[in-house]
Amino acid sequence: MEAELQALVSQAEAGQDTVSTWPALAEFKATFVGPNGSLTAASKEIGKLPNEQKPVFGKKVNETKQRLEVVFDSIRERIENAELAAKLGPQVDPSLSVSENQQGTEHPLTQVREKIIGIFRKIGFTLVEGPELETEFFCFDALNTPASHPARDMQDTYFLPADFVLKGGGKRGSENFIMRPHTSAVQIRTMTKRKPPVRILSPGRCFRRDTVDATHSANFHQVEGLYVDENVTIRDLKALLDHFVKELFGSDAKTRFRPSFFPFTEPSFEMDVQTSNLRKLSGKWIEIMGCGMVDPNVFSHVGYDADQVSGYAFGMGVERIAMILHGIDDIRHFYQNDLRFLKQFQFA
Ligand code: DAH
Repeated sequence: MEAELQALVSQAEAGQDTVSTWPALAEFKATFVGPNGSLTAASKEIGKLPNEQKPVFGKKVNETKQRLEVVFDSIRERIENAELAAKLGPQVDPSLSVSENQQGTEHPLTQVREKIIGIFRKIGFTLVEGPELETEFFCFDALNTPASHPARDMQDTYFLPADFVLKGGGKRGSENFIMRPHTSAVQIRTMTKRKPPVRILSPGRCFRRDTVDATHSANFHQVEGLYVDENVTIRDLKALLDHFVKELFGSDAKTRFRPSFFPFTEPSFEMDVQTSNLRKLSGKWIEIMGCGMVDPNVFSHVGYDADQVSGYAFGMGVERIAMILHGIDDIRHFYQNDLRFLKQFQFA
C-alpha cells in the first residue's frame, strides 16, 4: 500500500514537466485527486482495512496529498512565470548603447518666442522681464484700467487671498496680489525706473481664469513691446509692425489696423495680417495683436510728461502666433508634452 502511494508521487514528479497550461494542470491534478483520481481511489481503500491500521494509512494518504500539492504548486508557479515573461516581452539589455536619434528639440513655443524676440532685437529693442505674481496697481491702475473694468473681475483674473503677504511687501493700500493677466505690467515697472527714451520688449507667462478649450488656456505667453521717445507717432508704429510681419511671415505679408479699445492706449487698434503662404489661412485677414499709442494717463502714473514724450505699445500671444505659423488647431498640444507633436518641430 505504502509503495503504491510513493509510486503516485514519483509519477507526478516525473510527469510535471509536460504540463504547461492551466487546462493541462487541471487535467493533471484530476488524474490524482479528482473524483476518479488514483489518490482518491487509494484513499477509499481505508474502509477495507482493519481498524488499527486505518489511522496509520490515513496519515500516509494525507502526506501523499501534501507531496502532490508541492508538485502542483511548482507547476502553477512555472505557468505564472511564463505568462509574466510573455507580457514583459524580450529582456532589456541595459548595457546596449542608446539610439543616436534621441536628441531633444526646443519647444515650439520657445522657438516662436525666440524668433519674435530676434526680429525686435535687431532693430534696437532690449529685453525686460517682470514678475508673474503682480499687483493690481501694475496690471490695472497704472495702465489706466478703472476698478470697474471687466478684466479686473474675479471671473477673469486670478486673485490671491486678500491677506496674502509677500516678503518685502509690494502692496499699495488695499490692493490685491494677482497672477498677471498680461505682460503690459512690465511697461509700468520699466517706466517707473527709467527715463525716456525707452524701447523694450517683454516676453513672459500670463494667467487668466479661462475655461480650457482648443483656443483658450489658463496659462499662456505674451510678448509686449513699448517705445517712448519724443515725437513717436502712429506712422512709426505701423512701420515697425509692417517690418515685423514681413520678417515673421514672409515678404508678402500685409497689415491692417482696425480701431479697438484698450485702457492703456489711445487710439487703440487690433492688427490683422494677411499673407499667401499659410496653408488654410492664406489670403485671410488674421488678427494677431493689440496695439496703440500710449495713453497720456499712463504717462502721468510713471512721472513722464505727456507734453514732452509720446509712445506706442503692442502685445501679442505667443501661442496664437505659433498656431498660425504652424497650422496648429488646438492650443492644448503645446502643454501635453507628447513627443509625436513636439518632434515635428525638430528642424524648425
Ligand atoms: N495687454 C493686452 C492683452 O492682454 C494686449 C495689448 C494690447 C498690449 C494693446 C498692448 C497694447 O501693449 O498696446 O490683451
